[in-house]
Amino acid sequence: MPETIEKVPITVKVNGKSYTRSVEPRMLLVEFLREALDLTGTHIGCDTSYCGACTVLFNGTTAKSCTMFAFQADRNEILTVEGLEKNNELHALQKAFGDSYGLQCGYCTPGILMSTYQLLSETRNPSEKEIRKAIAGNTCRCTGYQNVFKAIRAAAAQGIGETR
Ligand code: FES
Ligand code: FES
Repeated sequence: MPETIEKVPITVKVNGKSYTRSVEPRMLLVEFLREALDLTGTHIGCDTSYCGACTVLFNGTTAKSCTMFAFQADRNEILTVEGLEKNNELHALQKAFGDSYGLQCGYCTPGILMSTYQLLSETRNPSEKEIRKAIAGNTCRCTGYQNVFKAIRAAAAQGIGETR
């Protein structure tokens, strides 16, 4: 007989909008974002807390959404990469990555953007060391780090952390 799993109701604010859904207690936050809310910009790269492709902001702090259950987000606030754009316009940080060729296949990019967003929200003019530390939990398998650093430096120079 198939196992019956009781679902739990949760209400989560994602990108400024409130969602109420019933989820299985074992559902991961990244699955909730992608499958229940159709926010597929948050990627799954490893599912083991290593790659950072699933990085979101959880109450303003970066979190790997594959390491949390969806129910843990109940009554909390999440920002995903979709929440960066405004009025159908890419955020200046996203533009900086495009302008600096800060991506290749782009799989790691949403996670790197979220880590960078938090860094620039807190640190106007980050040092090289601070930049490296901020994205240390984000792995780029295309190894395009030099242009990623360039994009972050360009974004910092534009004062992008203050644009939201
Ligand atoms: S999918 Fe979460 S860290 Fe890789
Ligand atoms: S751009 Fe391909 S994994 Fe980073």
